[in-house]
Amino acid sequence: MAAVQLDAVTKVYDGADTAAVDGFELDIADGEFIVFVGPSGCGKSTALRMIAGLEEITGGAVRIGDNVVNEIPPKDRDIAMVFQNYALYPHMTVERNLDYPLRIAGVEKDELARRVNEIARTLQLTELLDRKPAQLSGGQRQRVAMGRALIRRPAVFLMDEPLSNLDAKLRVSMRSEIARIQSDLGVTTVYVTHDQVEAMTMGDRVVVLNRGKLQQVAPPEILYTRPANVFVAGFIGSPAMNLWASSFHGDASGGTIRIGEQELAVPTEVIEANGLAARSGQPVTVGIRPDDLHDDATAESNGAIEVKVTLREALGSEVICHFDVGETRLLIEDPDLEEMAAEGLSPEVDFVGRFAPASTAAPAETRTVRFDVSKLHFFDPDSGLRLEDLPV
Ligand SMILES: Nc1ncnc2c1ncn2[C@@H]1O[C@H](COP(=O)(O)OP(=O)(O)OP(=O)(O)O)[C@@H](O)[C@H]1O
Ligand SMILES: [Mg+2]
Repeated sequence: MAAVQLDAVTKVYDGADTAAVDGFELDIADGEFIVFVGPSGCGKSTALRMIAGLEEITGGAVRIGDNVVNEIPPKDRDIAMVFQNYALYPHMTVERNLDYPLRIAGVEKDELARRVNEIARTLQLTELLDRKPAQLSGGQRQRVAMGRALIRRPAVFLMDEPLSNLDAKLRVSMRSEIARIQSDLGVTTVYVTHDQVEAMTMGDRVVVLNRGKLQQVAPPEILYTRPANVFVAGFIGSPAMNLWASSFHGDASGGTIRIGEQELAVPTEVIEANGLAARSGQPVTVGIRPDDLHDDATAESNGAIEVKVTLREALGSEVICHFDVGETRLLIEDPDLEEMAAEGLSPEVDFVGRFAPASTAAPAETRTVRFDVSKLHFFDPDSGLRLEDLPV
């Protein structure tokens, strides 16, 4: 087992004009489960492959344990890796597939059997040891691939989207399987995914990347409750946080922000926590999560807006409601929508609320949406940074 340290790790591919991974700083503790998440092309696999030694490092240093491994070939790094496209030997039984790495390393027979039984127990493969890969389900095959990687007892276990070939239901059960196995073995693990639910449910800490740059490293609940910038705010959470261009008018004793044509009173403690008094009259980016919006009069709230419902999606356990708050500029982090905006098209995007299943919200209806004003998130419109984290 070992800690992993990334010290300003940078990758510029030959001929590229921007870095695929740019000055990545991260300390991974011994035994920790770290997840890299971010949109396609943000540099997750590149970062993982540099830890593995499969990609040359342009700048900075990777340390595993006490050693800088920049120049050490993958086979000497004491790592094991599982990819999306794992290959098992089709003509060998599960047992032979599992013990293959030990057999080629010349481990003697008794030790071999002991290690196979141990890993098979951990991965719940004991009943399947005599089967061939073709006689296994997708999830069972994936467990064999993990077992084969782990049987060597690597110091660091790396996984790049290992579940993306499995169907949705199996992915959910494998999520908790992998988390259990990782915690049983206590092996330092880096797991790459573009699926934020996977990231949030599996990681001790989650690393959010965008365009090669680290955005935030934090435990899942902190990413959700205190996103460090507008990108993380928009990326983590589904449906995504409502984010809009607003402005604050007032001073330390009280003030308002705009939402459409409506004004919303902001209590003094929110003004203070976000340093809003010093920004009076200036633009500010404001966000609120769909989960923090309610349409029942009994909900505890100190803020309310009038909205026009545009769409109702009744999902049984909840009602996802889209609505219009009047003239306002919504901010979106979705790359496709960004592209539309860059081409001068203005994508029509509504506010979204996740309401209780009893909600009667219906299209074209005017409704009061309530919320707790302390649940608002404030960001600097230039840097995108969370105002609570900035010095006033
Ligand atoms: N071998 C390569 N040569 C040149 N550019 C590359 C190479 N591999 C990746 N890139 C580029 O580097 C950037 C990061 O790619 P990377 O594969 O690390 O992204 P990712 O986050 O893993 O994306 P995905 O979720 O799609 O797997 C992308 O812009 C990609 O086009
Ligand atoms: Mg990738």
